[in-house]
Amino acid sequence: MQSVGTISALRAQIKAWRDHKQTIAFVPTMGNLHQGHLSLVRKASELADRVVVSIFVNPLQFDDKVDLSAYPRTVKADIQMLSTVDCDVIFTPTLDVMYPKGMAPHTNVIVPNMDDKLCGLKRPGHFDGVATVVIKLLNIAQADIALFGEKDYQQLLLIKRLVHDLNLPVDVLGAPTFREESGLAMSSRNQYLTEQQQVQAAGLYQTLLSVKQRIEMGGQNFPALQLEAFTKLQGLGFEAEYVDIRRADDLAQAISGDKNLRILAAGRLGKARLIDNIACNLA
Ligand code: PAJ
Repeated sequence: MQSVGTISALRAQIKAWRDHKQTIAFVPTMGNLHQGHLSLVRKASELADRVVVSIFVNPLQFDDKVDLSAYPRTVKADIQMLSTVDCDVIFTPTLDVMYPKGMAPHTNVIVPNMDDKLCGLKRPGHFDGVATVVIKLLNIAQADIALFGEKDYQQLLLIKRLVHDLNLPVDVLGAPTFREESGLAMSSRNQYLTEQQQVQAAGLYQTLLSVKQRIEMGGQNFPALQLEAFTKLQGLGFEAEYVDIRRADDLAQAISGDKNLRILAAGRLGKARLIDNIACNLA
């Protein structure tokens, strides 16, 4: 496994692999890796000959500067974790490599109808920052496939749209959410939780499951189900942001009769903002 910090070094390696007709999978991350990230890397190595993982904490996607400065940077431990899986290259660009002239004058990519709902409402500019850095990273890595977690479902759909709309020659694949035994989705932000809060946090997934169960049993009054789940989250100690039943393909508000659904929720617990979502497909 080698670590590269410049675009030219990464491209030279990619070209060498391509010359040998090898396929390349790419997993972009912000580091502070956990088993959820490694599950993406494992899947990547099953799907391609070579795997590139990027680690870059992208300031452009942080609407909250305190969150940005507190974001855990653990590159040494990350490299150690990546050495336990099939990762060929770690790309660790500096801010200067990604935004040599600073971020303010940088071209900004906006994906309409994706950045203004759910998590986008409470985090203005967040998804523009994600779209901008992801298109840069995809253009830099020039991989055949790129993997993203379903844990960040809105992000995954946004990136699929971005790649489709701008005709990027890369297949974007989603990978299932990797969870703790309690059901809590693994996240870099879980470490902000106290032991007691970690137990409470598992209630987020349980709440989603109970909404799914109600829908599968014939529940079609989606606004009532959402409100009930929202109140349940508050009762569990969350400062709930939303619990929403949406169409899985475009995240439009679901209506009675829709079959392919996604149930998504977000809320704060102590110092952590947690998100989760599950599929709900009706026959
Ligand atoms: P980060 O939060 O580091 O996540 C990197 C990738 O890991 C994302 O695709 C995310 O959905 C996935 N992931 C996180 N937790 C997961 C879990 N428990 N199970 C499965 N996959 C999980 O998401 C970002 O970074 C950034 O926004 C990025 C796309 C890198 C752009 O800066």
